[in-house]
Amino acid sequence: MPLYHKLGNIPPKRHTQFRKPDGTLYYEQLFGTIGFDGMSTNSYHEQRPTQVKNILNQYSVKPKIAKSNNIQSYRFRGFQVKPEADFLNSRKTILVNTDCAIILAAPQESIRDYFYKNTDADELIFIHKGTGKLRTHLGNLNFKYGDYLLIPRGVIYKIDFDTNDNRLFIVESHRPIYTPKRYRNWFGQLLEHAPFCERDIRRPSELETNNESGEFLIKVKKQGEIIEMIYASHPFDVVGYDGYNYPYAFSIHDFEPITGRIHQPPPVHQTFETDAFVVCSFVPRLYDYHPQAIPAPYNHSNIDSDEVLYYVDGDFMSRNDIEAGHISLHPAGIPHGPHPGATERSIGKTETEELAVMVDTFKPLMVTEEALKIADENYYKSWLE
Ligand SMILES: [Fe+2]
Repeated sequence: MPLYHKLGNIPPKRHTQFRKPDGTLYYEQLFGTIGFDGMSTNSYHEQRPTQVKNILNQYSVKPKIAKSNNIQSYRFRGFQVKPEADFLNSRKTILVNTDCAIILAAPQESIRDYFYKNTDADELIFIHKGTGKLRTHLGNLNFKYGDYLLIPRGVIYKIDFDTNDNRLFIVESHRPIYTPKRYRNWFGQLLEHAPFCERDIRRPSELETNNESGEFLIKVKKQGEIIEMIYASHPFDVVGYDGYNYPYAFSIHDFEPITGRIHQPPPVHQTFETDAFVVCSFVPRLYDYHPQAIPAPYNHSNIDSDEVLYYVDGDFMSRNDIEAGHISLHPAGIPHGPHPGATERSIGKTETEELAVMVDTFKPLMVTEEALKIADENYYKSWLE
C-alpha cells in the first residue's frame, strides 16, 4: 500500500539498538518485496523470527485442470460450492492461469491450530458473507460484508469468523496488487478524480504481541504446495513496525462510482491493478443521463482479456437469470454482450443497485474440475433469440 503506516513501538532510527526492558535487543526484520526495490516494512520481534524447529509434511494443493484451452462462455453457481470446516480445505480454485487463481470458499470455522502464510501470492479476499477478524503478524483488521482484504505475500495470518455462514471470493496474485497508478500523483497520493481516497483504506490498528516459545505450526504455501513448518516462537510477536507493506481493508461500499451522459467503460470501475489483471467494483449508481442513452453495455470483444464477473447483490442489468454468488466467464477471442431484452429493458432506467466484482485477466484462464461441478454448460447459448 503506498501509504506509510506505523504501529506499536519502534526506535527513532532504523537499524540501531532497540532494547527490551531487560536490556536485551529486539530482533529487527525487514519485510520487503521485489528485492530491495518494492514496498517494505521494518518490524521488531520479541524473538528471533528465523527459528525453524521442524519441517513436516509437504503436499500439493494445485488445482486439477479440466479445460486448459477454453473459448466457451460459462456461468458458475458459486453458492453451490459446499461449506467446509477448515479455511484452507474450503478454498476451491475455479479458474487459474500462471498469474493468478480465482477461488471460492465457504469456510465454517476460524483457523485455530495453525497459522497460514502464502509466499507466492498476494491474496485479495472479498467478503460476500460473514464478519470477523483477520489476525496477522502486522496487526488485525475487522471485516464485514463488502470488504476487500488485501494480504501481501508473506504475511502470516489467521482468520476468525463470527458465525459458520461465510462466503469468500478470493484472488491469489503472483503479481503484486496495487491501487491504479493513474489515480495517484508522483508522490503516491490518491488524486481528486480517484473513486476512493486514503480515508477509505483501513489499516491495522490493533497489534497482538505474544512473547511465547514452544511449537507453532505454520502452513506455508509455496509453488502450489503446502509445507507444514514448526516454528519455535509465536509468529505474532511484533512489538512495532513501520513502512508500506502491510495488510489493509477497503469496503466496496466506499467505492464512489464515476458516471457520465453515455455508457462509461469498465476502467471507471477499476479498484486494483497488477500487470497481469485488473479488479473492478460495480456498485449502485445513477445511470447515464443523455436523453437517448442506453444504460446497458454494448456488445464487446475483449479480444485479449478473459472477463470474470462475480455477482454480489442487486439486479444485474445486462444479464438474464443471474443470482448472487454466480460467476460469468467471458473468454478472450469472442464477443459477448447484453442478453436478449436487456438493452431495451435498460432504456429509461435512472439507477442500478447492482453490486459485482470483476477480474479481467490478460492471459487466458484455465477451467478447473471444481468449476465444472458448479457450471452451467448451456450458458454460452444464452444469447440465442
Ligand atoms: Fe464484458
